[in-house]
Amino acid sequence: MKLFDTHAHLDDARFDEDREAVIAQCIEEGVDLILNAGSNIATSKTSVQMAEKHDIIYASVGVHPHDAASMENSTIEELAVMAVNPKVKAIGEIGLDYYYDFSPREVQKQRFVEQIDLARQLKLPVIVHDRDSHGDVMDIFKKNNIKQVGGVLHSFSGSIEMAKECLKLGLYISISGPITFKNAVKTVEVVKEIPIDMLLIETDSPYLTPVPYRGKRNYPGYVRYVAEKIAEIKGISIEEVAQKTMENGKRFFNI
Ligand code: NI
Repeated sequence: MKLFDTHAHLDDARFDEDREAVIAQCIEEGVDLILNAGSNIATSKTSVQMAEKHDIIYASVGVHPHDAASMENSTIEELAVMAVNPKVKAIGEIGLDYYYDFSPREVQKQRFVEQIDLARQLKLPVIVHDRDSHGDVMDIFKKNNIKQVGGVLHSFSGSIEMAKECLKLGLYISISGPITFKNAVKTVEVVKEIPIDMLLIETDSPYLTPVPYRGKRNYPGYVRYVAEKIAEIKGISIEEVAQKTMENGKRFFNI
């Protein structure tokens, strides 16, 4: 069984002690592909470096809404330069976060739109972070013709209604560790109703560790627990989930 973890942060300091060993372990455990997502200029650079070093790793470059306020006008140009690398397959993670509000909302929105425009110019899809900001995210999608750009809602936390709207816009839905939590009622419904062809799986490691390892450090090998839960919800085999989400991920990221 081959798995594609479409969203990880192996550049995180929590992997400083054993990063290479973790990557070797992922390969051994059947994780064939990992998309390492950048979240600011520094982590975008590290993502690209990791992708250059390891065949199984691809990268995205972008500035997370948490860091939107630290963006300068030259930041977009810096991202554009990094994105020339053939292992960069998306702009992200970008979006809005109204849970933490680390950057003023108007700034978050402005920088989100600018990075969607960058993705359009570069013909790359976007990886979108949306926390407690569903309304404004959908509004920006519609006003900025997201269908033309392509995108994935990473670690999807919206309702089934929102998921269906996203489908109409041609967007993919990515499922992460919280699907294994007892209170995941809304997301279980999303997985049940959304066609398998539009689903991706991810860990968002080192965060969002699935059951039965909740509380420990997450890593791409645990993406199998997300696949297992989706298989259970959809009544299909984990092998089929692995195969479909691999195909979907390759199609989405043009790998
Ligand atoms: Ni992330």
